[in-house]
Amino acid sequence: MAQATVAGSSGFRESGSEVILRTENLVKRFGGIVALDNVNIEIERGKVTLLIGPNGSGKTTLANVITGFIEPDSGRVIYKNRDITNLPAHERARIGIARTFQIPKPFKNLTVLENVMVAAERNPGENPYLSALFKRRWVDFEEKLAARAFEVLRWVGLEEKWDSKASDLSGGQMKLLEIARSIIRGAELIIMDEPAAGVNPKLVHDIFERIRMLSRERGLTFLIIEHRIGLISGYIDYAYAMNMGMVISRGDPERVFNDRVVLESYLGG
Ligand SMILES: Nc1ncnc2c1ncn2[C@@H]1O[C@H](COP(=O)(O)OP(=O)(O)O)[C@@H](O)[C@H]1O
Ligand SMILES: [Mg+2]
Repeated sequence: MAQATVAGSSGFRESGSEVILRTENLVKRFGGIVALDNVNIEIERGKVTLLIGPNGSGKTTLANVITGFIEPDSGRVIYKNRDITNLPAHERARIGIARTFQIPKPFKNLTVLENVMVAAERNPGENPYLSALFKRRWVDFEEKLAARAFEVLRWVGLEEKWDSKASDLSGGQMKLLEIARSIIRGAELIIMDEPAAGVNPKLVHDIFERIRMLSRERGLTFLIIEHRIGLISGYIDYAYAMNMGMVISRGDPERVFNDRVVLESYLGG
């Protein structure tokens, strides 16, 4: 992957690292508001990147432009060296960009394992002709799918819950189930907007411990938008801070969290 190697303007990146997604001069206006003002970010494959910033700084808009929910006024989104700026959201999902809330909500009455299996079957029952044709292979297919779903549950640490109803999971476990469901759909870059909101501190640590493990051991890439930076700073590889639509700080998380312009942006508002 030598062609994907970047030196990085911050001098922070190790050589040989691969940028899975980058934005180039993204601009997005809503009427008179400049929600994104020339945003350039790079997300490294297999790393956990954090995006912080006070309310209204443009974080969710940036996530929406990356996933294709919102079209930028100008600028580009590059994923695996391909310009995806004009690719529809569902196409981006197909090539591995996942936003956890985009996955259909878990079925409360299905088990945890069934929920992962259902997520893998994109359009169950969509084509009756094809399903009839493959009927004889169906049992075999379901068995393989169940095995794969079980493995993914092991990755996120929910294997012991496989037979529980999804409705019996805690809020934190539900986040892990969302991650499992996006993994089985082929996600490589997983974008989570405030996963710690409404989750108790102990479970926040559990979730982020898992996220870190998935990045280290499975090469998955995470972009996390989060407010509760005190709880999660230990699990992050790289941080960006935004204010008023602009990236105001980037680099090592501790440095970004203690950057005077970042602290001031939270006091301002
Ligand atoms: N659909 C929209 N229509 C109009 N203004 C919007 C819309 N989405 C976001 N904004 C504005 O853009 C700015 C950035 O919002 P947002 O990206 O949601 O910030 P954050 O996620 O950091 O809180 C805010 O001023 C917000 O009010
Ligand atoms: Mg937001």
